[in-house]
Amino acid sequence: MTQRISLVTGGASGIGRATALRLAAAGDSVIVADINAEGGAETVRRIHDAGGIARFEHLNVADEASVASLAGRAGPIRNLINCAGILQNANRVEDMDLGEHDRVWAINYRGTYLCCRAWGGIIAEAGGGCIVNIGSIAGKRMFPVPAYSPSKMAIHGLTEELAADLGPRGVRVNAIAPGFVLTEALQARIDAGERDTSVMEAQTPLGRLMRPEDIANGIHFLCSDAAAMITGIVLPIDGGWLAGVTYYSYAGLKKN
Ligand SMILES: NC(=O)c1ccc[n+]([C@@H]2O[C@H](COP(=O)([O-])OP(=O)(O)OC[C@H]3O[C@@H](n4cnc5c(N)ncnc54)[C@H](O)[C@@H]3O)[C@@H](O)[C@H]2O)c1
Repeated sequence: MTQRISLVTGGASGIGRATALRLAAAGDSVIVADINAEGGAETVRRIHDAGGIARFEHLNVADEASVASLAGRAGPIRNLINCAGILQNANRVEDMDLGEHDRVWAINYRGTYLCCRAWGGIIAEAGGGCIVNIGSIAGKRMFPVPAYSPSKMAIHGLTEELAADLGPRGVRVNAIAPGFVLTEALQARIDAGERDTSVMEAQTPLGRLMRPEDIANGIHFLCSDAAAMITGIVLPIDGGWLAGVTYYSYAGLKKN
């Protein structure tokens, strides 16, 4: 039996690393693609230590040539998981640095777009498969992160568009909308005093931040035959945050 090849962008850290480990544990041959070679090598080492198959490939999702180059040499992949992305700090539109605004869009939205564009046809020709994009609860409700929130809303929209476009060719396209996930990126914002974990936990009915593995499990499900008729959805994995944030702030609710 030939091994299913899955390509995980952003696989050097956080959600991408957990996803690479999860898919490899399920038997996929995983391509860990990232701009960070050191972190990517560490992910590959962990997969090999667990008896899995993986290799690292350098990829800058914001660079069209880099995406095209990897698409030309990565082979007949069946799953593309777009985890490469960056966070940003809270800001007001008029105070936001335009360079940072453009970087967020170039990596989060345009990077996802470029990868979907490069691999959609390859997956179809390989016999069909899945694309999973990483949106956010910040793409479901507005956060004071003026480039990030709209970029995630755009990813949710792109996911629906591609599901309709690529479905007839056997490619399912879904997104995950993670809640607050304790990754290296979020931990750095917490350490810098840019995020308050007690607020994040209080808004989350299940009472804790997500772990990268929580998101990876959802991605594994979406790429499995158990999700054979699921396409075009944005699946929240947020510990109930989307329900809780409006429930807990409802004007008039008496708290005991
Ligand atoms: N952590 C959270 O709370 C949270 C919540 C919702 C959504 N997300 C999203 O999940 C995704 C992953 O975030 P994370 O928290 O795991 O962050 P992370 O920093 O731990 O991992 C992101 C990875 O993307 C890579 N990357 C960044 N720019 C790249 C580029 N141009 N080309 C290739 N790789 C690049 C980084 O090197 C890193 O390995 C992002 O899209 C983020 O917006 C995170």
